[in-house]
Amino acid sequence: MQKKLFVILGMAAVAMFLIMGCEGERGLQGEPGTTTCFGCHDNDNLEMIAIERQWQHSNHGIGATVFESGQSCSRCHTGQGFISVHTGDGDTIAVDEPSVIHCFVCHAPHDNGNFNLRVTGAVAFPMGGTFDGFGPASTCAACHQARQPNPPYSDADSLTIRSRRWGPHHSMQADVFLGTHAYVFPGVTLDSTSAHNQLAGEACVTCHMATPVGDIGGGHSMNVAFLEEGEETELTSACTVTGCHDGEVDFTFGYNGVQDSVEALLETLRGLLLEDSLITEDNLVKASSSSPLVVPMDVAGAIFNFLFFEDDRSLGVHNPDYYFSALNASIDFMNSRRMLAAH
Ligand code: HEC
Ligand code: HEC
Ligand code: HEC
Ligand code: HEC
Ligand code: HEC
Repeated sequence: MQKKLFVILGMAAVAMFLIMGCEGERGLQGEPGTTTCFGCHDNDNLEMIAIERQWQHSNHGIGATVFESGQSCSRCHTGQGFISVHTGDGDTIAVDEPSVIHCFVCHAPHDNGNFNLRVTGAVAFPMGGTFDGFGPASTCAACHQARQPNPPYSDADSLTIRSRRWGPHHSMQADVFLGTHAYVFPGVTLDSTSAHNQLAGEACVTCHMATPVGDIGGGHSMNVAFLEEGEETELTSACTVTGCHDGEVDFTFGYNGVQDSVEALLETLRGLLLEDSLITEDNLVKASSSSPLVVPMDVAGAIFNFLFFEDDRSLGVHNPDYYFSALNASIDFMNSRRMLAAH
């Protein structure tokens, strides 16, 4: 009973706030019809229901990694951590009762009276530089960005790695998309430009939030690959538009054999790293605080590049030529090192 009262009081308070907002200087931006409670909370607002169902099918909604809620993790894995970093004083926090990446993490409808995103504009990368110019995709890049490896690779001769989790973390999709932060071997130039970072104007959002297929693909599900009635399905509607892969019949993500080629390159590089006892079968670095891995910087770079492209998980799609140039350079380096050792 008391709980109900609190909810009603809470709603009244929000209502007061919004009404005052309407008349006050702050005003309410956004589209007409979404500025009152019932613009969004209408019984007939099927768009909201559809979006909610899509979101429930996203890994954001499922919250598979929500308990990664320590101070250095919560800003990407929990709702509270993200909001703390991206609004107000910007502190990273440890979160006790973590909430998943829900509507109010990316939007603040009750503050703004609309669905504007909390994060827009330039997003800084921990490894340097920024992600900017792709509209709503800045929100994605705020979390899907590489972590600075600790210790970072550098111009020094060698590196001492003390953790099996050394590397860019699993979240480097924005860096790969732009073509930045892979290790560059001396004398090598990487090809960072792709049709995707030139043409996909809203980056992640263009492809992953394309027109939804039911509630399992595209839209707020963010899924580009999903099971439709038990069958593996690819969301290619954003690929085959005019100016991109228009006119392609039976278009797949493996277009031009890109994904097969990338898979083969990743397997080759992995084999070379395994043979030299640099990584484990689980793709972790063979290092610990008690038994550190001390390697020439270029070897650290080859390990980094393997993890960087393996964990991106688009098998080349995010930036095909960047994948090819960096993986080939890494394989060439590991092979030449082997030839030298054999002499
Ligand atoms: C711009 C759109 C928008 C407006 C305007 C809006 N809301 Fe909401 N509200 C939302 C969304 C989105 C949710 C989350 C819905 C969901 O989980 O499906 C929500 C959820 C809620 C909830 C549930 C909170 C919870 O924790 O799940 C309450 C209560 C609520 N709104 C009250 C109000 C009241 C009162 C107003 C008017 C003063 C209002 N809202 C105006 C978008 C809006
Ligand atoms: C910069 C944002 C960011 C930070 C900080 C971060 N993560 Fe993540 N992490 C992600 C993203 C994004 C994914 C999901 C990537 C994907 O699905 O491809 C992820 C995935 C994971 C996974 C799942 C890996 C898998 O193979 O499924 C684990 C476990 C994880 N993170 C643990 C942690 C821990 C522990 C910390 C803190 C020490 C941390 N993360 C900090 C963004 C981050
Ligand atoms: C991970 C971040 C994220 C989460 C979580 C999220 N959204 Fe969104 N939402 C976006 C992005 C990005 C867009 C912009 C898409 C575009 O511009 O095409 C968007 C667009 C929208 C729009 C369309 C606004 C407009 O008219 O342009 C609505 C409505 C919306 N979201 C509601 C919701 C609701 C309701 C939830 C929770 C069930 C939710 N969102 C959860 C990122 C998110
Ligand atoms: C608050 C941080 C955050 C934001 C913002 C965010 N993500 Fe995520 N995303 C994650 C984490 C963490 C995971 C891993 C989810 C899990 O396993 O719990 C993930 C998972 C995903 C996955 C599923 C990966 C898989 O394992 O299949 C996709 C696709 C994705 N995100 C795309 C996006 C896109 C596109 C945007 C922008 C519209 C976005 N994300 C915004 C943190 C974020
Ligand atoms: C040109 C279209 C395109 C763009 C742009 C794009 N992606 Fe993807 N993404 C894909 C495809 C295709 C896959 C691979 C799906 C497969 O083979 O299963 C993928 C895979 C992923 C995955 C691995 C999990 C999954 O769903 O398979 C994540 C996470 C992800 N993308 C996030 C992002 C983020 C974040 C951005 C923006 C920085 C982005 N993507 C930009 C098309 C795109």
